[in-house]
Amino acid sequence: MAPGGVYKLLASLVVPRPIAWVVSRSTKGHLNAAPFSFFNMLASDPPVVGVGFGMHSTGADKDTYTNIIETEEFTVHIVTEETAEAMNITAVEAPHHVNEIELAGLTLAPGVAVKTPRILESPAALECRLLQTIQPGRTSKIILGEVVYAHVLTSAFSDLEKLNMDVHAIHQIGRMQGGLGGGYTRTRDTFDIPRPVWKERS
Ligand SMILES: Cc1cc2nc3c(=O)[nH]c(=O)nc-3n(C[C@H](O)[C@H](O)[C@H](O)COP(=O)(O)O)c2cc1C
Repeated sequence: MAPGGVYKLLASLVVPRPIAWVVSRSTKGHLNAAPFSFFNMLASDPPVVGVGFGMHSTGADKDTYTNIIETEEFTVHIVTEETAEAMNITAVEAPHHVNEIELAGLTLAPGVAVKTPRILESPAALECRLLQTIQPGRTSKIILGEVVYAHVLTSAFSDLEKLNMDVHAIHQIGRMQGGLGGGYTRTRDTFDIPRPVWKERS
């Protein structure tokens, strides 16, 4: 199949996808924000996240990818119903020097473990250091990042000591296939299935 068809098929099937709202900076200090839904947590010890990049329509690398290669760090924000509009503004394919964070009217706070700042309007941010890059093909690039520091709104926890989070506190959104009127989904319609326990039969 042609790559465009493969993208359409997989992006319609593998849903909902979490969205990494990535802030990165170049060695010259230019800041950048953009969303990436080829994203997930891949390990917890050490904590590792993965982000998949395509190319710009011009054939150039995405600025986020270039910045992460340059400075070896980035910050991932969890996208919510409240920050969805601002996230969408930062998806504009602007020239390298344009700061999409200013464009979306967002506020920055300094990073703790990395020099890249985080978006204060976001209820959760993961500071990451570049761990590995994988290039499975000419136009696809994957970045693995180790999460070295996490910021989470304390009001999101039902029990902070036990690290129990209220699943309905943050209103995360997911990326659906897009295009045909189903771009995003809310995550409020949750349900439980008790996990079966294997009991040896005598
Ligand atoms: C919800 C959403 C998810 C996206 N996911 C990806 C993705 O996984 N990979 C990718 O290369 N581009 C993705 N894009 C497109 C980039 O955000 C867009 O190309 C952006 O301009 C890249 O910015 P940069 O060049 O400043 O890094 C997505 C856009 C949106 C709105």
